[in-house]
Amino acid sequence: MSFGVSKNFIQFEDLSSEELRVFNLILQNIYQKRGIDFCQYRPKCLRRRIVVGMHDVNVTSFCTYLDFLNKNPLQYDKLLDRITINVLEFFRNPEAFKAIRRKVIPSIIERKEKMASYNIRIWSSGCATGEEPYSLAILFKEALQELGQNIKVTILATDIDKESLRKANLGVYGEKALKELTTRQIAAYFVKEEDKYCIKPQIKVMVNFMTHNMISDELPAAIDLILCRNVIIYFNKELQNKVHANFHAAFVSTGFLVAGKTESLMDVKEELFSKIDLGKRILQKRIKRTSGEDNV
Ligand SMILES: C[S@@+](CC[C@H](N)C(=O)[O-])C[C@H]1O[C@@H](n2cnc3c(N)ncnc32)[C@H](O)[C@@H]1O
Repeated sequence: MSFGVSKNFIQFEDLSSEELRVFNLILQNIYQKRGIDFCQYRPKCLRRRIVVGMHDVNVTSFCTYLDFLNKNPLQYDKLLDRITINVLEFFRNPEAFKAIRRKVIPSIIERKEKMASYNIRIWSSGCATGEEPYSLAILFKEALQELGQNIKVTILATDIDKESLRKANLGVYGEKALKELTTRQIAAYFVKEEDKYCIKPQIKVMVNFMTHNMISDELPAAIDLILCRNVIIYFNKELQNKVHANFHAAFVSTGFLVAGKTESLMDVKEELFSKIDLGKRILQKRIKRTSGEDNV
């Protein structure tokens, strides 16, 4: 499958026109193979990651690297992992999940009780191979059990990359991805098959996977919590603002947004979100009340 050609072109003043052509050709090839347009991402960050990918295979020029990639097309996947720093595991950055348990879940439940509504809608945007949405499913299942709540949780898990979503749908993981889970959780939520762990149906049914570009595709609605971690760090300011505005529109009136540990929230527009816990990267949709107060 080919995704066509990206209209964007990245410039660097210190590269020759040939180096620039080849650098952009690498990005075009990724776009054609996987549909991810890195030309809109932060150029310096992108270049650093591509150079790391080159070091992995002992190559020092963009031209030799392009040659290498074209002769070994599977290496495009490795490069993609390098660019998106794919350290994927369940409960990645466990502190964030603890903070969701402590600060976000009780607040969502309180609101649901007030509204006599018995559905919680969560969106894991940029979910990669599914570790994040399945972790959320486990977290909410256990929290609701603990709190004696009978609320239905639906997790929409989206990514631009179809190959990642295929793996997510399979729900089969190596031991390394499970290192933050307790032995009890592994026994409760996975079936072991040789050296692999398959997520059990009771967790799988809580998650719906879908291809989706968070920059340009139609938004889901009435979302209570969005996790978008380790994705928009690669976007330029303009795209970051667009994605934040999209999330704001997708929320119910008081939805929560959780960003990645390495993502700065300093530039998030004050009129869109209140900063609930900057350390754990938790924001809440801001709504203006008639009195002029907000929802903090
Ligand atoms: C590093 S992974 C993050 C996975 C997970 N959120 C986590 O923190 O463990 C980044 C993911 O974002 C996806 N992605 C990048 N740009 C995207 C876009 N515009 N829309 C949706 N997903 C995107 C990539 O395909 C990749 O799977």
